[in-house]
Amino acid sequence: MSTILVTGGAGYIGSHTVLELLNAGQRVVVVDNLDNSSAESLRRVERITGKTVDFHLLDLLDRAGLDLVFKRHQIDAVIHFAGLKAVGESVQQPLRYYHNNLGATLNLLGAMTDAGCKTLVFSSSATVYGDPERIPIVEDQALRTTNPYGATKLMIEGICRDLAIADPAWRIVLLRYFNPVGAHISGEIGEDPRGVPSNLMPYLMQVAVGKLPKLTIFGNDWPTEDGTGVRDYIHVVDLALGHLAALAKAPTLPGCTAINLGTGTGTSVLAMLHAASRMVGRLLLYLFSQRRAGDIGICYSDATRAKQLLGWAATRGIDDMCADHWRWQSRNPDGYATSTR
Ligand code: NAD
Ligand code: UD1
Repeated sequence: MSTILVTGGAGYIGSHTVLELLNAGQRVVVVDNLDNSSAESLRRVERITGKTVDFHLLDLLDRAGLDLVFKRHQIDAVIHFAGLKAVGESVQQPLRYYHNNLGATLNLLGAMTDAGCKTLVFSSSATVYGDPERIPIVEDQALRTTNPYGATKLMIEGICRDLAIADPAWRIVLLRYFNPVGAHISGEIGEDPRGVPSNLMPYLMQVAVGKLPKLTIFGNDWPTEDGTGVRDYIHVVDLALGHLAALAKAPTLPGCTAINLGTGTGTSVLAMLHAASRMVGRLLLYLFSQRRAGDIGICYSDATRAKQLLGWAATRGIDDMCADHWRWQSRNPDGYATSTR
């Protein structure tokens, strides 16, 4: 049994990963400042698994507090989810994003170095490919970003690479997620965005529960089969299991390795809307509008490296993603704030 520190573990992807780590018999320590999450997610994870999480309400910008966590626990490896993630907000508040995402990561890497813990799995993003040169996207493709959020991911990847060159004891896996959606099958934990969602699936689900009238589809003139944007949606539980695979294989990998976590399949906005409508039992209303500023047409992964290096592949399809997300959203229309149960 290992002890894994999960930063940002109360958040959407973090809470699903904590659940899978506990189910796999690992000890889990979580650090989160609850800036974009609720401790209720972890209470529910404990209820589902029958196991406990050692939760520290702490900002990663607090280096002294972080050092205490490493003193208190013998941490074997870290999964680093903590960060701000809203692209539009990062354009409005660049300093907040650079300060939080870079500051938190530098503190974490410093604390890990001092504690002699040198195994890290980092949440990167397909956003580091910008408008991709080629589809499907392989990891060696040119990297570029168009917004401060993406820039923090790219900078952190660079910091990790430099660290692994300077000290060969480090084992760092940079996981580049495509579009995480869905929820745990229990319907007890899921994505709980603050305000009006900007991403497709949470927006669609709020249309489904009647909180929003209709989906606005950003463009029907993309060079795709039905003219709407294509993305690589990945079930959050598959994504969580990808982290367990990365932890298991980290010792066998070179110092710092970037790996896509996607399904390798593209799905259009209209195809997703129809899949969600089938789950909900009625056609979800939509209208077409202009393309969203900064949007790209087609983005999906080549998932070969994850299969080869981690022995991991996504197994859940679009129908599972919609069914599970809908179960969560319909039982918790207001997320963790209030529940119908
Ligand atoms: P989330 O906002 O639900 O979770 C992030 C967590 O980090 C939150 O609980 C937040 O409170 C915490 N946090 C932020 N700054 C902190 C700090 N300074 N100290 C302590 N805790 C802090 O987001 P998520 O969707 O679960 O994403 C997790 C990670 O995956 C993020 O790094 C995100 O950039 C990355 N990612 C997410 C997506 C996506 O679509 N959800 C896609 C690609 C990459
Ligand atoms: C967004 C982020 C990206 C992040 C990714 C994964 C932006 C600009 N980019 O990208 O950095 O890595 O999520 O979380 O936010 N759509 C609509 N109507 C809506 C919402 C979305 O038609 O109301 C369409 C989009 O045009 C796109 C698809 O749905 O074709 C998916 O959009 P979204 O969920 O925002 O994800 P990304 O655009 O991939």
